[in-house]
Amino acid sequence: MASSLTVCRLHMRGRSWLVQCLQKVETCLHRGVGTNTVPAQAEATRKDESDEKEKDGRKSLYVVQAERQEQAERSVLISCHSRTNEKKFLKYLSRHGDIKKHFFYESYGIYAVVEFANQDSVASLLEEAAIPSDSHDSMVPFKSRLLSLRNVSSVDSPNQQSGYQCQPQTTTPINELIQRLSREETIDQQITSLTEAYQLTEENSRLRFLVCSLLKDIAAAYFPECTIKPFGSSVNGFGKLGSDLDMFLDLDGISGRNVKMPKSGPLLEYQMKRANSERAVTQSILSVIGKCVDQFGPGCIGVQKILNARCPLVRFSHQPSGFQCDLTTNNRVAMKSTELLYLYGELDPRVRCLVFTVRCWARAHGVTSSIPGAWITNFSLTVMVLFFLQRRSPPIIPTLDHLRDLAGPADKSVIEGNDCTFVSDFSKIQLHSNTETLEQLLCGFFEFYATFPFTRMSINIRKGKEQNKPEVAPLHIQNPFETSLNVSKNVNTAQLDRFVALCQESAWLLQQNGTNTPTGLKGGNTPTPWGLASLLQPSQVAGIKSRKKRKREPASERIKSLLESLKNKNQQKTS
Ligand code: CTP
Ligand code: MG
Repeated sequence: MASSLTVCRLHMRGRSWLVQCLQKVETCLHRGVGTNTVPAQAEATRKDESDEKEKDGRKSLYVVQAERQEQAERSVLISCHSRTNEKKFLKYLSRHGDIKKHFFYESYGIYAVVEFANQDSVASLLEEAAIPSDSHDSMVPFKSRLLSLRNVSSVDSPNQQSGYQCQPQTTTPINELIQRLSREETIDQQITSLTEAYQLTEENSRLRFLVCSLLKDIAAAYFPECTIKPFGSSVNGFGKLGSDLDMFLDLDGISGRNVKMPKSGPLLEYQMKRANSERAVTQSILSVIGKCVDQFGPGCIGVQKILNARCPLVRFSHQPSGFQCDLTTNNRVAMKSTELLYLYGELDPRVRCLVFTVRCWARAHGVTSSIPGAWITNFSLTVMVLFFLQRRSPPIIPTLDHLRDLAGPADKSVIEGNDCTFVSDFSKIQLHSNTETLEQLLCGFFEFYATFPFTRMSINIRKGKEQNKPEVAPLHIQNPFETSLNVSKNVNTAQLDRFVALCQESAWLLQQNGTNTPTGLKGGNTPTPWGLASLLQPSQVAGIKSRKKRKREPASERIKSLLESLKNKNQQKTS
């Protein structure tokens, strides 16, 4: 993946370069999102179309998601000793069948993900696994594919090399990233380097699907035909190491909504418990599964059932993987927005690069936070980047309305009255030939939002044009599918002001000669932060906490000259 991304590292070289780059940039997810929100007939058509695509070397979203799920079903997660001998460990496991892939990682101990070539091997391995006998604690006898290696003969003595290498599961610390970026020669290179450092790795992506599969085994005690699918940034192409794992418990395979009544003859029906509403069903299912995860789920800790939220969920930490997990059900619109974001990310390599950069910049300045609150969320920020890219001249990505107009019959999707239809066939989407560099786009993003009329206008990726705000809210971003909802309803004025001030400052910094060119090494071997690296450093305006405080303080010379420079630039543009 790293080597293919270096293709992206080159400066933008026009449309043909973009097409090449798009073909070559390999994401660890490929098209791992897919959807089951279309009726069964449409889904079958999509699968046929996907199979067609596979022939020309491009796999569809649907196919890759199915592949990842199937891969996860053939995998086990094993807690190992830090001195586990890799060779002996693999030899021991391969008595159950061929191992296709394995890797080690560290999360409160050393773990190995082992993917067998056949599912029978997993069954054989589980057959042989023992119930823990050396513990004094009482245990819930729930058997899962999360195991511990206890065989001491596979562990080396302290002075022997164990042989394995741990795959990183956490992001590069910000200071290290700043140093790494400072060594690059152009801002475009800095942006692609940041993307490489932050995006999900192949291994992390596999682990996400494996955790979903382990969770499915628990839910399957009640709903044997269910699936659990990752959604959100785990699969939309914008996730980074450390992002939470959003999971969707899909019961549609069981619900029988698509079964046709025969015109004549008898038909047996299941008797089922009735509830007052879909929401009540969702709440009762999540309540029971949440209890199961809490009491039987190995490695699942801190389980919270948040059933009264707009979208009920079960939140917990999966300790062996280190993922913070949110489990939902009946959340099909979010699956669709995941698929939409994925599609946008695939259309042009600059989309993903810019989203990663803006997300990282926002995190570095505390614009976003892992704690829920009045902060702008990563999802909102991603939609803001997409909107900005739709507003370029010519646009880099199409509007959602245009994607809907290109949709075929198999793409039709209406969920709870919301039109979620958009094209899934990439070849139908014609892009404009915009050749702006990543540096131009990053600077453009900051300028765009430094001067955006937030008080009056709403951000709308369906129309690709700002719309009058339909309701009072400091920041209004229309939900792409549930169009009456504001994605950023939680954001307060202070947080929006801070975002705008930081955009102003970053736009200004990128225009300064001292910032936008490499400045060489400081004392020793440490490079002086420049370009993107200097934007990630603590800000001069970061101290702004609220409007009140800002009003009392005179604007610094730095901010004054920044606003002046932006004003001049805008005047030049309009004259
Ligand atoms: N979502 C949505 N409307 C919202 C919030 C979230 O439709 N107001 C959907 C989006 O598809 C989003 C997913 O739910 O991608 C998961 O939400 P969240 O975890 O908040 O965002 P992520 O995109 O996963 O980003 P992060 O890396 O911060 O988790
Ligand atoms: Mg998420």
